[in-house]
Amino acid sequence: MTISSANIVKVELGDRSYDIHVAAGLLNKADDYLTPYARGGRLLIVTDDQVAAHVLPLIIDSLKKADISCAVFTLPHGEGAKSWAQLEQLTDWLLEYHIERADHIIALGGGVVGDITGFAAHIVKRGCHFVQIPTSLLAQVDSSVGGKTAINSGAGKNLIGAFHQPALVLIDPNVLATLPPRELGAGFAEVVKYGLIDDAEFFAFCEREAAAFFAGDKDVQTQAIIHSVQAKARIVAADEKELSGTRALLNLGHTFGHALEAETGFSQRLLHGEAVAAGIALAFRYSVRVGLCGEADAQRVTALLRSVNLPVSLQDAGAVASGKTLAGHMLHDKKMSGGTLPFLLARGIGKTFLSHEVQLDDVAAFLDEEAGF
Ligand SMILES: NC(=O)c1ccc[n+]([C@@H]2O[C@H](COP(=O)([O-])OP(=O)(O)OC[C@H]3O[C@@H](n4cnc5c(N)ncnc54)[C@H](O)[C@@H]3O)[C@@H](O)[C@H]2O)c1
Ligand SMILES: [Zn+2]
Repeated sequence: MTISSANIVKVELGDRSYDIHVAAGLLNKADDYLTPYARGGRLLIVTDDQVAAHVLPLIIDSLKKADISCAVFTLPHGEGAKSWAQLEQLTDWLLEYHIERADHIIALGGGVVGDITGFAAHIVKRGCHFVQIPTSLLAQVDSSVGGKTAINSGAGKNLIGAFHQPALVLIDPNVLATLPPRELGAGFAEVVKYGLIDDAEFFAFCEREAAAFFAGDKDVQTQAIIHSVQAKARIVAADEKELSGTRALLNLGHTFGHALEAETGFSQRLLHGEAVAAGIALAFRYSVRVGLCGEADAQRVTALLRSVNLPVSLQDAGAVASGKTLAGHMLHDKKMSGGTLPFLLARGIGKTFLSHEVQLDDVAAFLDEEAGF
């Protein structure tokens, strides 16, 4: 194998530790990585119809070289696939193929495929292994690492799930070439987030290289992805199950973002990463308002997100509503105590922290101002 060790990031979790390999062109040699996981010359791959059209042939061709055949379960693309109905079909399919506990299922796709496949791997035969091959930017820098798996229920998103770490993560930035541009932008919001949490230098890298990143520069994309998974791996190793508050830092922009997603009906009108971008801009402006953060930092954040066509306001997000309505959405997945809500705020770029002092009424007043009410 020709991968340099710098392109391997380790997630340190004791006996559940695993490697993340990041390299442009890596999937042309998928057989090098996946051969050990084949049983009886066959691998079980779960994907969606769009990824099946764009990325799957590369993997099948590469595995042919090693005389490995693939059985493929193809989900319909989109969030709707994270359902009980699809989970039932997927687990039935795995059982038809006589999956064993020692086997590895391959999850090839975006966060939707990774989440449902990881959860299926967790429950089928009381738990088997899985390998993540994330193909969207969001999945490459976020959802494929850290072991959160889930499907949606009528009561909300990701409410049925488990922690189940993958055995290996394979990331090939080349596959981003076929990702729809809006999806690339949405993933970029999560990349920028890592800089904002605790790494001002990485934020500056994102500012410098954003244009090259979106022009498809493979070196820049690879560097940005490696840096992002290093950050995620560090945070997950420190707080795998979100018990100490460290992993909660990954939710920067997500409380505002969740309200915007709820207001737009969790639909294609506003992708998750787009909501996060607007949420991050709002979190910084709110941090300025309460005197924590300098105006110039908030402006830099907004300028970067806007420069890559991400929404930075309620208007951009198509989610103009009263502060009371939006704050109401925030309560859905948060526990409030004494009128305050746990909230990620920033003392500046790279200085995010979890505050327990944010008054929901004050957030609502801020959002009214943002909406122009
Ligand atoms: N487990 C976690 O820690 C975690 C973290 C963040 C998000 N998520 C979950 O991830 C999901 C969102 O993931 P997503 O943004 O990747 O969405 P997605 O899986 O729906 O992928 C986005 C779209 O891009 C297409 N696509 C993916 N890769 C492609 C490629 N290389 N070429 C062409 N098309 C491609 C897909 O078919 C899909 O239509 C949500 O369900 C969210 O809850 C999970
Ligand atoms: Zn997110």
